[in-house]
Amino acid sequence: MTPPDVTLQLIQAARARIDGKIRRTPILENATLNAAAGAQLFFKCENFQEVGAFKARGATNAVFSLAPESLRAGVVTHSSGNHGAALARAARLRGVRAQVVMPRHSSAAKLEAVRDMGGEVLLCAPTLAAREAMASQIVTDSGAVFIHPYDDPRVIAGQGTIALEVLEDLPELDWLLLPVGGGGLISGVSVAAKALRPAIRIVGVEPAGADDAYRSFASGTLAPPPQANTIADGLRGALSARTFELIRTHVNAVVTVSESAIVRAMRTLWEQLKIVVEASSAVPYAALLEVGWTCAARASVSCSPAVTSIWTRCRGLRHARCELRFLIAEGLTAHAVSARVLGAVQRAVGSAQHGRDGIAAWDRSGYTDADGQTTIPQPT
Ligand SMILES: Cc1ncc(COP(=O)(O)O)c(C=O)c1O
Repeated sequence: MTPPDVTLQLIQAARARIDGKIRRTPILENATLNAAAGAQLFFKCENFQEVGAFKARGATNAVFSLAPESLRAGVVTHSSGNHGAALARAARLRGVRAQVVMPRHSSAAKLEAVRDMGGEVLLCAPTLAAREAMASQIVTDSGAVFIHPYDDPRVIAGQGTIALEVLEDLPELDWLLLPVGGGGLISGVSVAAKALRPAIRIVGVEPAGADDAYRSFASGTLAPPPQANTIADGLRGALSARTFELIRTHVNAVVTVSESAIVRAMRTLWEQLKIVVEASSAVPYAALLEVGWTCAARASVSCSPAVTSIWTRCRGLRHARCELRFLIAEGLTAHAVSARVLGAVQRAVGSAQHGRDGIAAWDRSGYTDADGQTTIPQPT
């Protein structure tokens, strides 16, 4: 059941609140990527958002939700960069102070982005515990309001406004792929998308080096934070109880990708879309590359490098020949697969939907169906 603190109404209210303070981002399509995928891919480009990331949505909604009297000491957060810059910008729009705790190894570009927005950067050790401890000390000392990068209904609702825009532009989408760090993005998007289009399927993608959402989803229990080791610095966070619950409720599957696939995805997106896509944002497209898929028909998929959501749509594929390894990326609609494969797909997706281990049975060595027979090996 959806926790009552994040609803479609909250997301619609967030949209009204942040209207005019953030951008409506474009959706790109590319013929070469479509041809390679045998499908239509749509990229929701949140890299063109204010501060270069969707984080502007959640942070702006959170800061503008607060009463002026509670903002006297400003706001504080901890962040790998994008949320910090977004919070600093929102605070500046409201004329209040923003303090941002960032790990010592943060990229120079991200440190600079926070400072450029007027944020005060405080460096800490590169662990979640260190970030949380320093931010909480600042709250105690200064009375600043803490705005969590993802475990906050106002932040999640802000991120969910992406789904409102996407479904207005592409109302027939069947699938969305999104990156998962702490889970705020996918939580907000999935609440809105499932409310507006219940048939839509949503896949979360994580680096294998920071796979707590994958493990939590597969086991049905919130996994401890990973020893994150990935180039995708925005995805090193760990799910919270709130985002885990939202993901369990609304997301159909969670999969992981390797570091090499992330790098390949970034490069392909740069070359083909001619836009700069950071590692975290390339992760859903990496799932398409790594999973590999063959769909000899006009399937349509969409993805967004910046936020890196991949939105998939199948247009009545009657005779499409899809291999099962395409399952996670595309999800497959009933007409897109042969009858034999379809049963396995439905079992996998069905059990994943119920929080069991159907998707866990699908891994890098191939897909094992519910009867224990490996049907389709993964590409090498
Ligand atoms: C570019 C980018 N994509 C995805 C994410 C993951 O978002 P969330 O932590 O809400 O899952 C982040 C988080 O920092 C990010 O910066």
